[in-house]
Amino acid sequence: MSRVTEQVPLQSTLRLPAKARWYAEVADVAQLPQLLSHPQWKQIPRVVLGEGSNVVLRADLPALVLRPIMGGMRVVEWQGSRALVECQAGESWDQLVQWSINQGLAGLENLSLIPGSVGAAPFQNIGAYGVELADVFDSLQACSLVDGVCRQFSASECCFAYRDSFFKSVEPGRWLISSVRLWLDRDREPVLGYADLASRYRALPAAMQNAAGLRNIICELRRSKLPDPAQMANAGSFFKNPVVSAQQHVQLKRSFPELVSYPQSDGSFKLAAGWLIERAGWKGRREGNVGMHSAQALVLVNYADASGEEVLHFASQVQESVRNMFSVELEQEPVILPALEQGGTP
Ligand code: EPU
Repeated sequence: MSRVTEQVPLQSTLRLPAKARWYAEVADVAQLPQLLSHPQWKQIPRVVLGEGSNVVLRADLPALVLRPIMGGMRVVEWQGSRALVECQAGESWDQLVQWSINQGLAGLENLSLIPGSVGAAPFQNIGAYGVELADVFDSLQACSLVDGVCRQFSASECCFAYRDSFFKSVEPGRWLISSVRLWLDRDREPVLGYADLASRYRALPAAMQNAAGLRNIICELRRSKLPDPAQMANAGSFFKNPVVSAQQHVQLKRSFPELVSYPQSDGSFKLAAGWLIERAGWKGRREGNVGMHSAQALVLVNYADASGEEVLHFASQVQESVRNMFSVELEQEPVILPALEQGGTP
């Protein structure tokens, strides 16, 4: 059975101080039923944490924290040029991207350099530069946090939406994602619709106009805008890009003609939260240990030894400014732990 330890300091890319009351690494899901039915933890809330790249640890977790560490990636089957790839949850996402490109498989290159584990990727349907996980997704295996029993979930059962899934919104705290299956392709057309990707790609030498070349461009782009969590503590975009109705969009455009927005298929508009935050005066602004990044206003940075409460207080000030200026509500993107309705101390 997995070894359970107590009062374990947790890692997260925002580097907030928090401990797990109990902590266990899960190397094999076959161990879960025994672990979860153990009398000592039977009534204790369970929390799954990967590499901690999309969480705000606002306090210690009065819970049994499970860290999936199972590894391995393989091609399960080929269908013509398409390969069904299976990857275990404990792998790092970017290692999977690099591995798939080494196999000559395209599909993940736009998602290069996203921090975090493979198991966390479906949880919030990671996305960047015109591609989302859902675009290449086949299915996943997840295990119940009640009894440890595992089952397959199809793409439709995962209810993927913009930075959202069944696991994040419908049954949060109920499942541990243990492996993911994706369809990748030797002959996939590159996705170049985002900003000036197409012109950058066409400027590559012909021999580099492939998934590896596109990965290089994406890595460069990310490095130029997004702070590396190893150097500057952050959790990527701190807010989602908000969606407003066509009517509200017209009104906003009237007051702010330069508003950055993207029409959605249902007639609504997605707004660039980074633009709203910048216009509200928060880009590069720091208060105490916390600030919004100077190259990407959507990224909140912990400059020193911020506490979770300090981060949440700062974020609420940003939300308030944007609400007052634009009447738009910014929703936090990372998961807050412990959840706000739960207590913060064991
Ligand atoms: N913008 C500003 N000021 C800023 C930042 C952005 O005006 O400080 C405006 C610009 O007009 C820019 C537009 O917002 O053209 C969009 O900015 P960017 O391309 O940087 O993307 P984003 O919408 O801010 C989203 C994702 C990122 C992802 C990028 C690229 C969300 C919440 N964030 O950011 O994902 O890398 O697109 O596809 O959807 C993450 O989820 O952690 C993340 C980094």
